Amino acid sequence: MKIILLGAAAGGGFPQWNSNAAGCRRARSGDSRAKSRTQTSVAVSRDGERWFVLNASPDLRQQINDTPALHPRDGLRHTPIAGVVLTGGDVDVVAGLLTLRERQPFTLHASHRIHDVLDANPIFEVLARDVVTRSVEQLGVPFTLEPGLTARFFAVPGKVPLYLESGSEPPPIVVDDTTVGLEIVEGDKRMLFIPGCAAMPEDLRAQLVGVDIVFFDGTLWRDDEMVAAGLGGKTGQRMGHMSLSGPQGTIEAFRTVPVRRKVIIHMNNSNPVLLADSPERAEAEAAGWTIGEDGMEFML
Ligand code: MLT
Ligand code: MN
Repeated sequence: MKIILLGAAAGGGFPQWNSNAAGCRRARSGDSRAKSRTQTSVAVSRDGERWFVLNASPDLRQQINDTPALHPRDGLRHTPIAGVVLTGGDVDVVAGLLTLRERQPFTLHASHRIHDVLDANPIFEVLARDVVTRSVEQLGVPFTLEPGLTARFFAVPGKVPLYLESGSEPPPIVVDDTTVGLEIVEGDKRMLFIPGCAAMPEDLRAQLVGVDIVFFDGTLWRDDEMVAAGLGGKTGQRMGHMSLSGPQGTIEAFRTVPVRRKVIIHMNNSNPVLLADSPERAEAEAAGWTIGEDGMEFML
């Protein structure tokens, strides 16, 4: 299995268009220890010819242009992208679908709930239904991406997309088909893609055991880092994300889980692990984490 990390930042990217915080200023100035990152997406292929894009980030057009494996090869209209798989309905997960218009066939795999969200928004009809196949996948039931490459969605704790929140109360953290993790299997190789996750319940921990590679939600370092930095009023928990540090954090949760390789993705622009010279980066790497960078390639 070939894997390309197309983008490793959370919604907004790094730098984020309207952030003048120190990290974003460093990224904007071209500082090599504060590398820019596009919004999270991963491309997976069995043979290097046909590719499946996991989440369609708002940066998908740039990600395709920056990735030769995803360029057209045959004839006047072609793409190596055979399918797109969605793990949620957030803007940073679905907005890139609009880039994939132009009557290009591919299959769009998502849960019932996420297809409902797309169906309710007519702008996604640019993916003409006679050309783009919308495939509804049940949680826990493996589906075929192509012969030899299967996938499976499983529920992880999460919340509704920001734009579907209603009322003044924070939305509840739910475990259903609103926010899912994705497993992809080829033979005895197994990868997991979990860009959003609010907690680590025991059944999720069990799925992680023995996996060859996991790409995991690394939105914030500290739950209150955006509040503390004066960047906003929301904690990580309020946004439906567990944080990397602390006793309930991701680094701690993974300490006792045997996985071959673990990669931090979906990093918010406030997260100090984005900065190669930060103590938080050193701590995450010492705990065995790879800090995701756009263009990283992995082979299973
Ligand atoms: C998130 O992961 O929390 C969302 O992408 C936030 C957003 O929609 O901006
Ligand atoms: Mn997101």
